[in-house]
Amino acid sequence: MLKEKVLTREEIDAAIERLAARLNADLVGRDAVFVCILKGAVYFFTALTARLKESVVIDFIQVSSYGATTESSGTVILVKDLTVDISDKDVFVVEDIVDTGLTLADVIALLHARHPRSVRVVTLLSKPARRRKDVPLDFVGIEIPDRFVVGFGLDFAEHFRNLPEIWEYLPDQGV
Ligand code: IMP
Repeated sequence: MLKEKVLTREEIDAAIERLAARLNADLVGRDAVFVCILKGAVYFFTALTARLKESVVIDFIQVSSYGATTESSGTVILVKDLTVDISDKDVFVVEDIVDTGLTLADVIALLHARHPRSVRVVTLLSKPARRRKDVPLDFVGIEIPDRFVVGFGLDFAEHFRNLPEIWEYLPDQGV
């Protein structure tokens, strides 16, 4: 059941605008690759990268950890790998939400193994109360309390990604 709207489209857009402004100041002279973590980050990723003034390379990676529950399993499976070489590049990993941090920690380790110049993290949302792994978040859009949210890319069992706003979802009351 969708309980209540947590973030309006205006609030989401404003957060993306703020992140893009910070990234634009940071990107000058860098050889940057923006990596979208599929599928959840895709709406955020396109909105964000379309606001960047420098040319950047984009790529996509897909890992799986949740299945049809609201808890991270803590083990990440690589479903779709990058297609570009990131060695010596400044990599910006773009995530929809950081919850326990377990997924991101695994993705960062996987990327570091390919010898990038740097790896930084951009996330639209962060739930600091839920963190189990201390991953450095370089660019955070909005911190939210410990609620399960859907919309603007975020899903429950693959549903609700297309909603334009972000809603709290109560899973035990049925899709
Ligand atoms: P973590 O490994 O616990 O940090 O979880 C990261 C991933 O879990 C995110 O990329 C999301 O796909 C998913 N996730 C975490 N919290 C939520 C939520 O509130 N709604 C939807 N997906 C979530």
